[in-house]
This record gives sequence, structure tokens and C-alpha cells, in this order.
Amino acid sequence: MTLTETIDLSDHDAFVDAVPYDWFRTLRREAPVYFNPEPDGPGFYAVTRYADIREVHRNVDIYSSEIGGTSLEDLDEEQLEARKSMIDMDPPRHDELRGLIARRFTPRAVQVWEDAVRTVTDRVLDAALEKEEFDFVEEISSEIPMQVFAEILGIPQSDRRHIIELGDRLLGNQDPEYFVPPDPSHRLLPFSSPAALEMFEFGRKMAAARRKNPGNDIITQLAFEPLTQREFDVYFVLLATAGNETTRHTITHGLIGLLEHPDQLERLREDPELYKPAAEEMLRWATPVHHFRRTTTRETELAGTTIPALAKVTTWLVSGNRDEEVFEEPDTFDVGRTPNKHVAFGPGGIHTCMGAHLARMEVRIAFEELLKRVKTIEMTARPERLRSNFFNGIKRMPVRVTR
Ligand code: HEM
Repeated sequence: MTLTETIDLSDHDAFVDAVPYDWFRTLRREAPVYFNPEPDGPGFYAVTRYADIREVHRNVDIYSSEIGGTSLEDLDEEQLEARKSMIDMDPPRHDELRGLIARRFTPRAVQVWEDAVRTVTDRVLDAALEKEEFDFVEEISSEIPMQVFAEILGIPQSDRRHIIELGDRLLGNQDPEYFVPPDPSHRLLPFSSPAALEMFEFGRKMAAARRKNPGNDIITQLAFEPLTQREFDVYFVLLATAGNETTRHTITHGLIGLLEHPDQLERLREDPELYKPAAEEMLRWATPVHHFRRTTTRETELAGTTIPALAKVTTWLVSGNRDEEVFEEPDTFDVGRTPNKHVAFGPGGIHTCMGAHLARMEVRIAFEELLKRVKTIEMTARPERLRSNFFNGIKRMPVRVTR
């Protein structure tokens, strides 16, 4: 059988039971720049080796985020224009928009949130751990990132659940549970989702309140910038979504990693110095965003393969993070792994995750505080995966704890 007969990365069903790591291993070895036909599209090149992923993300002149956006979906120009936030832009506008708040996310700047993150985490854990059995995703791993985001932005407690649900509806739209049938009136909305309208409304209300009552927060800052309404709307949606599912799935997979490797859990409990490297290993292990997409501005060559102009090129971070050329025993979960130059936040370059330092802190604190509080924790059923070739998502994970 040929590769094309066995491997189809556009098939969301191929990701339902587990990440198809064996496909990626084969591609890295046999076809590192693999052309994947699509049933309803032009097809895309799948880049699976670490070094090539890096090359694509760092060479913004050849691999554009703006021409076709960064998702696999084929959007027309009107849709791209209406929906695009900085993540779907090239310089110079990308750099201007990112520059507005990037300084709040440097390693040093995020330290001001450490206490807030710990307080929020403590609150979430104490509420969840009142029960012996509960859904880890619902009660803990989805709560922490959203509560942190809400805390940082000053969103009232009463609105927080609503924002979490909006985020789920916005992003999980390949999964039957969240699926909304395509409606032409939603085509200009982020993710073609009507939930985006509710999210816009929420952001606009917050901005209006800050204009009246300015604070020293991100929304106040953005509210006073000369952004168009649409630019503000999509900026808000980006901030509300970028750190939400990603951090959630890292925490969930992090726990799965520890439960499936009890020796690593033991190591972590015995040596608190390991929480930092453990968080990095959880990020590598989870790789919550499987891939990103770019579009070639001209014909080019990558790893010996000629790619035509205006082709869809996808970079499979999930594969880069298991590249045996870079990681020793890549399929081993090692909480002390050093070095660990994973690409869960992207491989560097201008689009590197803006929230990376905040996210790493959240993951570390989640486990520092969780393991302090529980004697044992076990799954009571198999984790339920999201149907998506984009997110490595877990929808539900029932657990039982003893304290
Ligand atoms: C575990 C959690 C997270 C993961 C795995 C993650 C992953 C990523 C990845 C892979 C990218 C694209 C990188 C590239 O194209 O090279 C990205 C971009 C981005 N992330 Fe994150 N992210 C996480 C958390 C967050 C958080 C908490 C925020 C909060 C502000 C955030 C904000 C952003 C923004 C604004 C961008 C776009 C940056 C740009 O285009 O310049 N992310 N993230």
C-alpha cells in the first residue's frame, strides 16, 4: 500500500482513539514533506521533522500566515479579512498588534501573576476536591486556565462559566458534541461559529466599562488603542481562546502522563525541583495544538521536495515533539528531561506563543498544588477524546481521589 492509501491527516476520525504517532514516525522517516490530498480541498504538504518545522515558522517571507490563514480550512478572501487576528497576519501589521501587549507576557512580567495564579488554582482545587469522584476536565483542567484568564482581565465571577462554554462552542466545532451545521450568515465569524458573536459582545462590554473606569489591565490598554472594532473583537477572541483549551489539555494530558507512569509521579513527589521540567515534559507530551498552517508566497524547496507557490503547508508540532533526531527516547515520559526544546508553543519565530510563560506557570502550579492535596488519584473510566486533528483534546476524564 502507498502512503496516500494509509495516511490521511485531514481525517478527524484518525485522531479520535489516539494521536496516530505511528503515521508521524513513518512520515518523518519516509516522506518528511508529504503531500496529503484532501477530499474537499486542494490538499496540503505535511511537514513532520523538527528541523523543517523550524524552517517554515522562521521563514516568514516564503511561508505566509496571512495569505491563507493558519488553519487547514480553505477560506475566501472576504472571510480571511474579516476573521484575522495577529496570528493570521504577516509583518508589519502582525508586529504592531503583538507589540501592543507583548511586554506583559515576558518571563519577568508574568511573575506578577504568580500569586494570582496560585490563589485561583487553590480555589479551584479546594472546590473540586470536596468530592471523591468528579470529572477532572470539568472541575479542574478547564477551570484553571479560564479562571486565570478571567482574573487577569478582571472578568466577574458570575460571567466566567459562560465564557468557558462560549470558548468550547467556538473551538470544538469538529466534534459532534459541539457541531453547529454550517450557516452562510456565520461565514465571516471566527471559526464560522455564532458563539463568536456572543464573545464579541462580551469583549465590547468590557471595553466600554474600562473606557469609563480605566484600570491597569490588558483590556483597558486595548480599549484605548486606535483599533478598528473588528480588530478589537478578534483580538479579544484570540486572547479568550488561545490560552484556554491549550492549557486545559496540557493539564489533563499531564495528569494522564503521571498516572500512566507512576514512577514519574513518585519522582515528582519526592523532588519539588522537578516541577519545572515536568511542566515542560507535559507540554511536549501533550502538544495540545497538533499543527499550524502557512501558505507559500513562491515556489520553494524543503527537505528535497519542491513546493509550488500558494500551496498549503502544515507543520505538525505533534510530530516535531517526537522527532528522534532531537529527543532521546521521544516516546518516554520523563519529568526530568533536559534539554527539552519542545515546540508545543511553536518552534520560535515571530508567532511564538505570546502566552507561553504564563501557560508554563499555570501547568507547574496546577501540579504543585494538586499533588500537595491528594494522596492518590486514579481514573475511573477511559478519558474521552475530542474529535479533532487540530487539538489534542480530552473532553472528559472521570477520576477518584483520596486526600
Ligand atoms: C499550554 C498552553 C498553550 C499552548 C500549547 C499554546 C500554543 C501556541 C502555538 C503553537 C502558537 C503558534 C506558534 C507559531 O505559529 O509559531 C501560539 C500562538 C499564540 N498564543 Fe499560545 N499557547 C498556549 C497558551 C497561551 C496563552 C495562555 C495565551 C494567552 C495570552 C496564548 C496566546 C497566544 C497568542 C496571542 C498567539 C499568537 C502569537 C502571534 O501570532 O504572534 N497562548 N500558541
